[in-house]
Formats: sequence, C-alpha cells, structure tokens
Amino acid sequence: MQKQRVLTGITTTGTPHLGNYVGAIRPAIAASNGDAVDSYLFLADYHALIKCHDPAHVHQSTREIAATWLALGLDTSKTYFYRQSDVPQIPELMWILTCLTAKGLMNRAHAYKAAVQSNEEAGEDQDYGVTMGLYSYPVLMAADILMFNAHKVPVGKDQIQHVEMARDIAQRFNHHFGEVFTLPEAVVDEDVSVLAGLDGRKMSKSYGNTIPLFDTPKKLQKSINKIKTNLLEPGDPKDPDDAVVFQFWEAFASPEQVAYMRDQFAKGIAWGQAKKELFELINDELAPARERYNALLADMSYIEDELQKGAQRARESAAETMAKVRAAVGIRPL
Ligand code: TRP
Repeated sequence: MQKQRVLTGITTTGTPHLGNYVGAIRPAIAASNGDAVDSYLFLADYHALIKCHDPAHVHQSTREIAATWLALGLDTSKTYFYRQSDVPQIPELMWILTCLTAKGLMNRAHAYKAAVQSNEEAGEDQDYGVTMGLYSYPVLMAADILMFNAHKVPVGKDQIQHVEMARDIAQRFNHHFGEVFTLPEAVVDEDVSVLAGLDGRKMSKSYGNTIPLFDTPKKLQKSINKIKTNLLEPGDPKDPDDAVVFQFWEAFASPEQVAYMRDQFAKGIAWGQAKKELFELINDELAPARERYNALLADMSYIEDELQKGAQRARESAAETMAKVRAAVGIRPL
C-alpha cells in the first residue's frame, strides 16, 4: 500500500517554546522517524512575511526553528525538510490556485475576518492594515499542501479551516481540469497535550506566557519559578488537577513519575520543592538537545546544507506536480 504523506509547515516568526515542543515538535519527530508515513516538514518563510516585516526577525527565527528540529533529532533522510522559499514552484502553484479560488471563500477566512472585526470595533475602515498577503494566505497554504499531494495535515484547531479550504480548492481544480490533486485532511491530535503557559492559559506567544525551549538552565529555572500557584503552605495537601505545575509535570513525566508526583501533592509537597523537581525533569529531557542546538547555531553551514538537500528533493517532486498542473490548465509547449 502507498504510504500516507503527512505535511506540516512552521511559520518562521518567533522562537520555539515549550508549548510548541510538547504540542507539535516532539510528536512530529516521533512520527516522522518511524516508517509508517512519508513526512514533509518545511519552514514557511513566505508565510512569515504576512505578519512580520522585520527582516532580522524572520531570518533569526528561520535559523532557530531549523536548528531546533535538527537538534531534537529529526532524521532528514526520512523527511523532506526544506524551506518554502527554496521551492519556487509553490508560489507558482499559488497563482494558478488563486485564479480559481472564490473571493467569497477568502472573505470567510478567520484571520481576515478577525482583522475586519477589530477594525470595525476601532472605528477604522474595514480593510485597514489588511494586505493581499493576509487576505490570500489560505491560497498559499493550499499550494504548500497540494503541491506534495499530502493526505494528512496535522494542525492546531486554528488551522483546520485553512486545510478545509485547501481541500475545497483541490476539489474545484479536479472538477474543472481533471484529477490532479489528492484531497487533504486536517488531523488534530486530541492525545497530544496542550501545554499551559505560566499563567495557566494555553502557552502561546500572543498571551506572553511562554518559556523558550532552549533557554539556559538558569533562565529555565527562573521561568519555572514564575508558574502560577496558590497560597497553600508546605504540608497542606494540594490538588494536582488544579495545579499548573502538575500539568507541566505530566507533559514530561513517565506514568510512574506522574503517580509519584500525585502522591507528593497529596502529602503536601511545598510549591518550591515541586518546582525544583519539575525543573530537573524538564532540564534532563532537554539538556542534550540544547547542547546540539547551540552547536548548530554556532555554525549554520550544516543546517544550510541540510535545507539545500531537502529543497533539491522537494523541487524534484514539485516539478512533477507542476508539469501536470500546467498541462491541465493549458499552459504547455505549442
Ligand atoms: N499557517 C500555518 C500556521 O500558522 C503554517 C503553515 C503554512 C502550514 N503552510 C502550511 C501548516 C501547510 C500546515 C500545512 O501554523
């Protein structure tokens, strides 16, 4: 049987944090290193330009994200690991898809609707600050996905709509020009834990409650000390299911370690002690990868090389798709 193709893109704005690690990076690496699927993982740097116009930030984020995945053990012989901008067929496909995507479909995209709504609330023109990049974003994402005929696209809940739009666009193309594209499906893994942030809400850059993945141990410890707790004293029994510290613990601990900490909570472990043990648990898991991360960042040539190799393979596959697409729409040698 043909293997399922699984594809994920990461927008290159920001520095990976513990929430990204637990919710996305760790499970994706585990899945891609198995033999069950063909995996595609790319740095969505054209997507970054939609929301970020600071070149230094986009560049630095691209380095950090690439180094993070490699440091954590992504096996590039088993994964197509590439930078979106190294595959010129993607924006090419985007144009063709743009020409058959209904404007009305884009009017319904959450990101655009949210921008319009906040403009209306602020008494501004509805399209104030809305670029064509933001507006057409789902078409670029459709091109990313359809280019490689991905079957499955693991995403967070906020991205489900975009994958459904990619599916709509593929359907429309196939209906009009003949079967070219595989219809993709979003997968939201309910088993993967969503890590809480320092304040107990979901860890997210937009809440400012994140812990950078590869901070120094000292900074990691400082962040952990800031995790929200209540006023219970040492010796007071504590409810693990109502404690952010315990949620963090569960994201990193083995089942035995989870049982151990539950017991400690019942016995009234002091918050300071629980945080100290939590730091050690997380730090032990991250320390070897952190060392590789720092070494990779100190010499970018290895990463650049890996990305170039990945791009080469991705372009070969993209060229095949584009040959079909162009022929289907009537763009071909005379
Ligand atoms: N838009 C996605 C996000 O912000 C990133 C992304 C870009 C993506 N292209 C993709 C995800 C294709 C999955 C498939 O998270």
